[in-house]
Amino acid sequence: MATLIDGKAQAAALRERIGIDTATLVDQTGVRPGLAVVIVGDDPASQVYVRNKGKQAEAAGFNSYTHRLTDDTSEDALKALIGELNADTDVHGILVQLPLPEQIDEQSVINTIAAEKDVDGFHIENVGRLSLGLPGFVPCTPLGCLKMIRNTGLELAGMEAVIVGRSNIVGKPMAALLLAQNCTVTIAHSRTYDLPAVCRRADILVAAVGRPGLIKGDWIKPGAIVIDVGINRITDVDGRNRLTGDVDFEAASEHAGHITPVPGGVGPMTIACLLANTLQAAQLAAT
Ligand code: GUN
Repeated sequence: MATLIDGKAQAAALRERIGIDTATLVDQTGVRPGLAVVIVGDDPASQVYVRNKGKQAEAAGFNSYTHRLTDDTSEDALKALIGELNADTDVHGILVQLPLPEQIDEQSVINTIAAEKDVDGFHIENVGRLSLGLPGFVPCTPLGCLKMIRNTGLELAGMEAVIVGRSNIVGKPMAALLLAQNCTVTIAHSRTYDLPAVCRRADILVAAVGRPGLIKGDWIKPGAIVIDVGINRITDVDGRNRLTGDVDFEAASEHAGHITPVPGGVGPMTIACLLANTLQAAQLAAT
């Protein structure tokens, strides 16, 4: 039976450390970390994420600023707001919640965020830095996954890592992070031949495709570390709505060495890593 990776507990521990370091920063420099979150439109899932980010930022001792724009906002208006936040010395981190409405070019908007305030790590400069192995902001979801993988205490060098999903937010940066840990990295995706066989090679399997239960129990190598990034809302047989991951958790637990649950795995660590990035941005601004 697999050991459960308790993302909720690991995130709580990380937030506690961030709270302590925030108090020290405020005492020593008078600088209080400020996180600005921008949301465009009223996608219900995004509203929930944004509310949680604001609440947890305040709980860590940050100033939190939320900007809610209507879904007919133009790209120019959004970029003008980002320009103001770039110039605001009380704001150390800027996050534009994705997805954006279709009239707006996401990457173009993200690239107007000052790279040193891009706590999501999506700015082209930070993406390039990660790819080159230079210091910069790393996207929060794969950063949280890496922390949980490292917290198993296992030696990662030489391991076969398979990432299912090639998104800019998770799959590609996850691959760069595991490569930097000296893993042998494969990115699998919807066009991969024989996905089960590729997954069975994995000492580390990261599933990030958004397809409930795609990864079956017998695709898991005995003893593997399994990280489930999927957050899928499904209606189960008795008509109840619930969250489920990309991995068949019950079956995979029979084979894995370590496994994250959904909910309570990757999700809480993602927000904790956003706070960690914002604190780091404030510390750099204070020096
Ligand atoms: N939408 C889904 N995940 C993310 C994320 O990590 N950052 C932002 N800004 N939007 C998202």
